[in-house]
Amino acid sequence: MKPIVNPDDFPGAQHSTYLNAANVALMYKGAEEAIADWQKDVAENGSMNFDEFAEAGVFDELHVVAARLLNASPDDIAVGSSATELLSSLAWAVAPARDKNVVSTDIVFPSTIYPWQRVANFTGCEIRFAQGENSYANPDAIIQLIDKNTKVVCISHVEYLGGQRFDLARLGAAAHERGALFVVDATQSAGAIPIDAPGYAIDALVCGGYKWLCGPFGAAIMYLDPELHTALEPGLVGFRSHADMWDLRADRIEYPKTAKRFEYSTMAFGCALGLRRSIEYLLNIGIERIFKYNKYLSDELIQGLHDRDVDITSPLNEAERTSIVTARFQGQDSLKIAQQLKAARVAVSCRQDIIRFSPHVYNNITDIERALECIDDI
Ligand SMILES: Cc1ncc(COP(=O)(O)O)c(C=O)c1O
Repeated sequence: MKPIVNPDDFPGAQHSTYLNAANVALMYKGAEEAIADWQKDVAENGSMNFDEFAEAGVFDELHVVAARLLNASPDDIAVGSSATELLSSLAWAVAPARDKNVVSTDIVFPSTIYPWQRVANFTGCEIRFAQGENSYANPDAIIQLIDKNTKVVCISHVEYLGGQRFDLARLGAAAHERGALFVVDATQSAGAIPIDAPGYAIDALVCGGYKWLCGPFGAAIMYLDPELHTALEPGLVGFRSHADMWDLRADRIEYPKTAKRFEYSTMAFGCALGLRRSIEYLLNIGIERIFKYNKYLSDELIQGLHDRDVDITSPLNEAERTSIVTARFQGQDSLKIAQQLKAARVAVSCRQDIIRFSPHVYNNITDIERALECIDDI
């Protein structure tokens, strides 16, 4: 397959073999420029250009592109500084009561479950973990934990450590069958894997900007099903929580009747402008096309690792695999291998004695070949 991006769009991809999107992706150049432009303008002009009107509408275009990304409407989108922040606000908004439970897995990224755990420490609700093995959680084990007292099923679309992808439509249907909310962390998937939030019966979804969306740290998005727009009172509130943020009367809050009610404060606004650019860029390439391309790259990597007798620990079946490939090198210290690869300018992650490769849209086949050559040298 031919490369699908113009190399000038990701200058960083020229000077390293960067296979680490599951940690931090390279940022689309247009996003970097938008952030720098905003910072410079505010540094030099204060509120002359970024005035009250601009501040009120600063997320509007991000709402539009994020909605396109998730097959949703702009009113279903809220913007925050991180996935964890948005999920925390949601967890306090839902606040499952003492007799309720929240279902997840014990291999999920901590930020996906800690916000619920914090609320559980306060309300006394139960957190139920489907047990994973070798960073794989059987979806049947998740479904078995859901009962009539389940308030929330909260999972990560793609697991950060093993690259396992869940069938969202199946889990969403199982959650709804028992009256539970279906909450998804798409931080390891959005931008690389097509997501149809309403189609998968997702009630809420959060996603950070700095991984597969090729955007910055400091901006994240949340999707909220229309039925929840007015049903939830956000856990985090501030002057921006009011329907007219410049109304500024301190004696009451009147929330917007859309997902925007989860936006509550100032933030590093340039990051939101940058994230808007990177999502738009990925949408113009096409998420389905990116999904296929990344799979092609990881196929080559998997083949190369198999040829070298390396243990691949991520799922290889079509339904559950992603472009995240994880491996153990027999008798070798994974951290040391990751460090040696880094010294050779090949970026991967080492997590819990597993090496994680995560190629993305800006990589090409020579990156995979180079990584395999470096592994041979090591
Ligand atoms: C699945 C998942 N969710 C959330 C996060 C953290 O997101 P944020 O930094 O936006 O809070 C990570 C980071 O690795 C992650 O892998």
